[in-house]
Amino acid sequence: MKAIEWMGNGLRILDQTKLPLQTLFREAKSYEEVAEAIERMEVRGAPAIGAAAAYGYALGAINFNGPRAEFDDYMEAVKNRLAATRPTAVNLFWALRRMEDRLREERDKEDLDEIRQALIAEADSIAEDDRRMNRLLGEHGNSLVPEDADILTHCNAGALATVEYGTALGIIRAAHASGKKIHVYADETRPFLQGARLTTWELMQDKIPVTLIADNMAGSLMQQGKIDLVIVGADRIAANGDTANKIGTYSLAVLAQAHSIPFYVAAPTSTIDLKVPSGQEIPIEERSPQEIREVFGVPVAPPDVEVYNPAFDVTPAKYITGIITEKGIVSPPYSVNLLKVMVRS
Ligand code: MRU
Repeated sequence: MKAIEWMGNGLRILDQTKLPLQTLFREAKSYEEVAEAIERMEVRGAPAIGAAAAYGYALGAINFNGPRAEFDDYMEAVKNRLAATRPTAVNLFWALRRMEDRLREERDKEDLDEIRQALIAEADSIAEDDRRMNRLLGEHGNSLVPEDADILTHCNAGALATVEYGTALGIIRAAHASGKKIHVYADETRPFLQGARLTTWELMQDKIPVTLIADNMAGSLMQQGKIDLVIVGADRIAANGDTANKIGTYSLAVLAQAHSIPFYVAAPTSTIDLKVPSGQEIPIEERSPQEIREVFGVPVAPPDVEVYNPAFDVTPAKYITGIITEKGIVSPPYSVNLLKVMVRS
């Protein structure tokens, strides 16, 4: 199962809005098509958005047919379009910055084809780094998982949200593969239902035992002693450890602390944004009211009811037991230890 795949002159995207009922692939042939696929959440999840945008940037270069003198301004417009798709996941901006840096390294070249090849190579390397980071992160995280564990997760931080393997689900995959007795509770994750539609589908494909619950059931399960640990992904981690992730994550973290259950965030270092001092400065995307008024086109509320639909929330660092990265597990105090992990090679 691959969320995205580079086909040489286009990006094949598994349309996640159709899962699990349909496995439908589209091939984006232009940067605009990639941008629209990200906005519509056909491709979603922080690392997958970053890698898709990198290939979108390369596609922009491939499709340019003007003179060399106009290329740099054109690529600036390509970057701005891709950067305007979704504001919260920092991996998008991280990947675009890598692409821009690569373009800058090539600035003395006149041959556009050479530049195009360099940009495709950079996008490939972003994708490869994500695969590698997820595998390492999975191993580190596995060291925290008991031999017999019921794990609660929220949204989808799996292979579908990354280039391969996943972050939170990468740890679950690693634990399962190492012979541990793992069972997952997946929050359905209203309103977009990434848990119900994607996480259950992904885990069932790998034959990892999973039980779907509605979001409002997590507290009761914790109270009954049914959850050993919580592992979630992240869209942006601020310098002090405050973490933006799918709406509903914060409530889980508070509940976990009330029940003395470890609460882990799993994310590659490409999700850490040291330029943002705390969660207060993380931009939170607001999405269409229709996502709340309707469930996939079927009205569930008065059509004109006022709606508030933030796609993410911020979990304060004090609720996070540890942040699992490809470079190891970061413990509090995060203001000190995140900086250390970012400078470590
Ligand atoms: O709105 P989405 O589906 O893109 O949100 C996804 C999440 O919140 C994930 O938990 C996060 O991006 C980490 S994915 C490895």
